[in-house]
Amino acid sequence: TNRTFTMIKPDAVANGHIGAILNDIIAGGFKIIAMKYIQLSKETAGAFYAVHKERPFYGELVEFMTSGPIVAAILEKDNAVEDFRTLIGATNPVDAAEGTIRNKYAKSIDANAIHGSDSDENAAIEGNFFFSQFERF
Ligand code: GTP
Ligand code: MG
Repeated sequence: TNRTFTMIKPDAVANGHIGAILNDIIAGGFKIIAMKYIQLSKETAGAFYAVHKERPFYGELVEFMTSGPIVAAILEKDNAVEDFRTLIGATNPVDAAEGTIRNKYAKSIDANAIHGSDSDENAAIEGNFFFSQFERF
């Protein structure tokens, strides 16, 4: 469908990139449906990343994602999930294409600036995890 979910991660927030990243997102044709500025608890981050529970970096991932505030948002555009992953670039910034958000703002595979949902199903689950029906416009 036409929506995806994103988080500007603690590294990009701490490094002052919220404005530039939102500019890239909007310039990329995405409309903001919902947005909030929050710091995740261990419980919230652990639940959000439950799909990665068995992966060796799960503990580090939860630690990192709770290390400072993030910006969470639901975005709308035709082909949103795929087009947003193209806009942000590969998970590891050394592999991220020139001009992508991770190429410009990410420092490492864990501190990689931004999240983008990987399927329509997960986009809906993740958006519903963070936002009620009264927080979407
Ligand atoms: P997200 O959009 O954040 O979900 O990234 P992704 O879909 O490109 O990657 P994936 O879902 O496979 O991994 C989720 C997150 O875990 C990544 O964004 C990274 O921040 C982190 N991650 C992935 N691989 C590694 C790793 O090998 N080491 C560490 N420390 N973190 C990793
Ligand atoms: Mg992922």
